Formats: sequence, C-alpha cells, structure tokens
Amino acid sequence: MGHLFLVKNGSSLEKPISIEWQIYLGKYLILTFFKQIIELIKIRQMILFLLVSPEEINSIHITIPAEVCEINSSNVDKVRDFRDDIDPQKFENFLKKGDVGIYAIIDSKVVGHLWAFICREKSIRIDGFIKISKNEAVIHFATVYEKYRGKNIYPSMLSTLCNKLMLEKGVQKIYIITDKDNISSIKGIEKVGFKIYQKKLYLPIYKVVKVIDSVLSFFVQCFINSL
Ligand SMILES: CC(C)(COP(=O)(O)OP(=O)(O)OC[C@H]1O[C@@H](n2cnc3c(N)ncnc32)[C@H](O)[C@@H]1OP(=O)(O)O)[C@@H](O)C(=O)NCCC(=O)NCCS
Repeated sequence: MGHLFLVKNGSSLEKPISIEWQIYLGKYLILTFFKQIIELIKIRQMILFLLVSPEEINSIHITIPAEVCEINSSNVDKVRDFRDDIDPQKFENFLKKGDVGIYAIIDSKVVGHLWAFICREKSIRIDGFIKISKNEAVIHFATVYEKYRGKNIYPSMLSTLCNKLMLEKGVQKIYIITDKDNISSIKGIEKVGFKIYQKKLYLPIYKVVKVIDSVLSFFVQCFINSL
C-alpha cells in the first residue's frame, strides 16, 4: 500500500503524512465538499425586472461629482482602476461580441461599471434562466466601488445605458435579474423605472457540476500520488 506525501510546488517532500492526518484531512475535505454543494444547490429566489419604453426611464442625479461614459476600446482597461481581480480581456471580449458597457468615473478613476448583452438572434436562453428575443437586452456585471455606494452611481449608469440601448441600439425590452435579498440592487433598479416582471427560483446546476468535477479530480490526484 502506498503513502500520501505532502506535495509542494509539484515535487513531493520526503516525509509521508501520518495516517491520522490523512483521516483528518479526508474528513475535512469531505465536509468542505458537502458544505460547498449545499451552498451551491441552495435554490435562490430571483426577481426579473423589465423596462419596455424609453418614456419609463427616469433620469438620475449622482450626489457627488462624477460622470458616466460608454466603455470603448480606448478606455476598456481602466477597469483596473478599482478592480485588479478582473482581466481587461474579459471586458474586451464583451466589446467584441457587441455588448454595451458603461463606466462611472470620479477623479479620472473608474469607480463602477455595468454591461448589457443584446440579443441579435431569433432568441437566446441566458444561464438556462430567461429567454430573450431579438432586439431585447439583459443587463449584467454591475458593480460600484464600495466607498462610493449609496450615491446613485448605479442607477445613473443604468439610466444612461437604458437610454443608449433604446434610443441608439434599437433595443425594445431590457431585463435585469437580481437576487431577492439584494436590496441595494433592487432599490437602484426601481429608481430607474424598471418594474417587476417575474419572480423565479434559480438552481445554479452548472456551478455544482464544476465543484464536483474539481473535487473528484483532487481525490483522483491524491490516489495516484499514493500509489
Ligand atoms: C448594487 C449596487 C451596484 C448598487 O450601487 P449604488 O451606486 O450604491 O446604488 P444606489 O446609490 O442606488 O444605492 C442603492 C441602495 O443601496 C443602499 N446603500 C446606501 N448606502 C450604502 C452603502 N454605503 N453601502 C451599501 N449600500 C448602501 C441604500 O439602501 C440605497 O438605496 P437608497 O438610495 O434608496 O437609500 C452596489 O451595491 C454593488 O456594487 N453591489 C455589489 C454587486 C451587486 O450586487 N451588483 C448588482 C447585481 S444585479
């Protein structure tokens, strides 16, 4: 029978892990695994909001000096101003596939962003969750830097984006999905004029599959190492 070895930087160390530690580690990993699964399969209640006409869009006043502008190829990498966890390539890809994005800027620094995906095909299903048709849009990836929250930055970006989508891009309906517990998001959305369209339950199956896959890979790797 083989031993489980500590592995560091791809090379195994001399000392094998004792059987007690292997049991402890195994229990810990199995518990963590189940905790993660329970967290992920928790059915979330989502609210789907809808806006159907430019007349419904309220104009919003940001309560501190700030401006909002469209994201384009020359400012796309400014997302790094406040989010170093995002690869600007992700935003470039959004631009390439025709998404429309908005930045909020304070003192020349990006402090918030949001995006819209426009359906140009007959219809498309988003996240297996909602089906949108040609010339309808879904808002996604909205964040405001924590320090500047509660100052109307999000609704202002959203209002600007919705006007752009409906008046310049031929969009007829705009949807936003948010978690029913995300009060800040719901308040921002309602300020702009969106109305509740549907309440839905959401089970993020694809995330569960991803976690099961990575945990199984880990155990298989441990088993191979112990041979
Ligand atoms: C949701 C989010 C984008 C809202 O941005 P925002 O610019 O703060 O929006 P608003 O200024 O309209 O504030 C909305 C509500 O947040 C709450 N709020 C106020 N100050 C706040 C603060 N300092 N921090 C957090 N929330 C605050 C208030 O309830 C406010 O409503 P009110 O203006 O009626 O009092 C922002 O909270 C965020 O980035 N959250 C994390 C990501 C997220 O949830 N994205 C939305 C996915 S749909």
